Amino acid sequence: VDYEWEHGEYLVSTDRRRIDVEAVHAFLTTSYWARGVSLDRVARSIDNSVPLGLYRDTQQAGFARVITDYATFGYLADVFVLEPHRGRGLGRRLVEAALEHPELQGFRKWLLATRDAHGLYRQLGFTDLANPQQFMQRVPPNAPDR
Ligand SMILES: CC(C)(COP(=O)(O)OP(=O)(O)OC[C@H]1O[C@@H](n2cnc3c(N)ncnc32)[C@H](O)[C@@H]1OP(=O)(O)O)[C@@H](O)C(=O)NCCC(=O)NCCS
Repeated sequence: VDYEWEHGEYLVSTDRRRIDVEAVHAFLTTSYWARGVSLDRVARSIDNSVPLGLYRDTQQAGFARVITDYATFGYLADVFVLEPHRGRGLGRRLVEAALEHPELQGFRKWLLATRDAHGLYRQLGFTDLANPQQFMQRVPPNAPDR
């Protein structure tokens, strides 16, 4: 089942068939967090998570995806709005759509990582980690630079 949210002349949709994977890859591969990522890896990440595409007509204007078990936890990743479309509330609408998604309810926790967009996520209830000492990460030895 696919879901849609309207925002003025823009549409947020979970329909994978709408996604311009080349356009999503073109942004991500230049982003600070996924620099150099391949098209194949972007396609695989979309296939195996819940994508939210942002569109004006058929044009890709932004993207986000949720990595999830559909039961307890969601990780919000790869959030972006393309430059010409920024500053109109669309980033916020994308994140809101993820949080409203009917199949992503009743979770214990949502997580995300961001270098500088904390203000956007705070507006939607995200906070600093309450207990960072309870979290760990593992960066594999040969992981690509971020
Ligand atoms: C971050 C990004 C998605 C925001 O998209 P956007 O459509 O311009 O944001 P919105 O217009 O929906 O902003 C909504 C609110 O969040 C705030 N906000 C947006 N970006 C912010 C940022 N980087 N830091 C703090 N607050 C931010 C806005 O000020 C606005 O608040 P206001 O309504 O009180 O003015 C977009 O700038 C982007 O794609 N940036 C490059 C990629 C990136 O850094 N992604 C985040 C990775 S975690």
